[in-house]
Amino acid sequence: MKKIVIAIDGYSSCGKSTTAKLVAAELGYAYIDTGAMYRAVTLYFLQNHVSFTNPKEIREALDNIDITFHYNAKAKRNEVFLNGLSVEDEIRKMYVSNQVSEVSVIVEVRRAMVAQQQKMGRRRGVVMDGRDIGTAVFPDAEVKIFMTADVDTRAKRRQQELLAKKQLVNLEEIKQNLEKRDLIDSTRTESPLRRAEDAFLLDTSHMAIDEQVEFVLNKVTSKLIDREISVQQS
Ligand code: DC
Repeated sequence: MKKIVIAIDGYSSCGKSTTAKLVAAELGYAYIDTGAMYRAVTLYFLQNHVSFTNPKEIREALDNIDITFHYNAKAKRNEVFLNGLSVEDEIRKMYVSNQVSEVSVIVEVRRAMVAQQQKMGRRRGVVMDGRDIGTAVFPDAEVKIFMTADVDTRAKRRQQELLAKKQLVNLEEIKQNLEKRDLIDSTRTESPLRRAEDAFLLDTSHMAIDEQVEFVLNKVTSKLIDREISVQQS
């Protein structure tokens, strides 16, 4: 069966990556966490004191950034590598979360990341999550999902995730960070966060993970069946 692209976009912390990972595992597809790529660029900029407003410094920095994903068998997870080093844990820390939306609005950064993401998905067979996958990276994705959830639920979920990594963060701080990122992500000029017209809306406020996964897999199955039928008819 021909492989497809599944685009999962939406607000911060509404369960996109957990859902995307499980859907990818179920289908035997690759999972690409595009947020991790923007976080890795942010980490590099912070570590190397790159000015967010100096296009020359930004271009030079981007030339020196190599982002890859590798499976860590011991930790049983996919990790993002920045210039050969795993930064999976570092990029989830609050000091990166607090700056990542500012870095994601930079046009040069977006163009470089989008080009790399398109390359990663050129053979299809990927589940990609982010903010602009269904609108800018793969506008031709066969299945598009737009995820949302109320902000209090999202903040509590993010707090639990951080706690699991032994990071104690105040709920109000997390909520403010989510609201700020949502605002910057949806109002930036270059590929803002918005629902593609053909994306299915998935509100996860009152849903369990397995229900979210089932919702996406149902849409995928319907798409694959439609395609098989149209191939047989042609
Ligand atoms: O999914 P996440 O919370 O790890 O993403 C971190 C930030 O990266 C998010 O606030 C906005 C940015 N981002 C983006 O601009 N475009 C994407 N495709 C993915 C993430």
